[in-house]
Amino acid sequence: MKIDFEETTDDLAKRINIHEQYGSRDIDAWMLDVLQLQPDSKILDIGCGAGKQCFSYFHYLNGDADITGTDVSRDLLNEAIEKNKQTHNAIKFQLMDFNLPFLMASNQYDLVSACFAIYYAQDIPWTLAEMHRVLKPGGRLFTTGPMPSNKQLFYDIIKEATGKAIPPMPGSSRYEPQIYPTMQSLFSKAEQHIFENPLTFTSVEPFMVYTRASMSEDRKLWNTLLNTHEEFEQVMQAIQQVAQKRLAKDGVLVMTKVVGGFLATK
Ligand SMILES: C[S@@+](CC[C@H](N)C(=O)[O-])C[C@H]1O[C@@H](n2cnc3c(N)ncnc32)[C@H](O)[C@@H]1O
Repeated sequence: MKIDFEETTDDLAKRINIHEQYGSRDIDAWMLDVLQLQPDSKILDIGCGAGKQCFSYFHYLNGDADITGTDVSRDLLNEAIEKNKQTHNAIKFQLMDFNLPFLMASNQYDLVSACFAIYYAQDIPWTLAEMHRVLKPGGRLFTTGPMPSNKQLFYDIIKEATGKAIPPMPGSSRYEPQIYPTMQSLFSKAEQHIFENPLTFTSVEPFMVYTRASMSEDRKLWNTLLNTHEEFEQVMQAIQQVAQKRLAKDGVLVMTKVVGGFLATK
């Protein structure tokens, strides 16, 4: 079966919103601290979505950068283009599928980034080789994605609620095991940085908003647990009961996001 890894705009926005409201740490500040961007950088952000990282780079460098964001989703790019009006369209946004050859010259970028996107690639070594090709010698590739220990509480609650094994997720099952070794083999050096952000919920509602958005967005991946709308609602009810029970016992639900930042130099 071919799995369609594309996400829906609305579900992604809901998850980002929950992170912002209930997390205590700012992932963009961490990313900028790891990257130490230099003025006048030429940056390509792949799988840019609505442009979150592109706008962070732009503001950090006070506009002194040449930034291009690319994505396969027209809807998300349109959101980015709308927001880009605030920068007087200083950032370029382009439709690009990272499973196809990048229509770009080699050796031109100081930084290529792919945040929460690279593990959707059909052929990871091929896409990473394209990223390597367009970087300048000495240029850097930065990727982010979930580490295997990411969101332990979320998976524990689903396991308890359904009594079934969690199917492999493209992020946590592919990111650390496949992307990091490929970066090590293609680049002259590679290092890992870890970001941990506990999302603290004092009621089950925001946890359920997150769970619904996450499981509906990745519906095809969860097909061993749910297929129909009815099954989806039954699983949500069972999850809510387990979450409620844990909240009553512990007084709080803490779901920790564990993100790896992999930084490699060409
Ligand atoms: C979780 S979102 C991350 C978006 C953004 N980097 C952020 O952190 O807000 C994953 C992104 O990867 C994009 N994506 C998935 N498959 C892609 C492909 N084949 N080519 C380009 N982008 C792709 C999706 O459209 C989506 O915008």
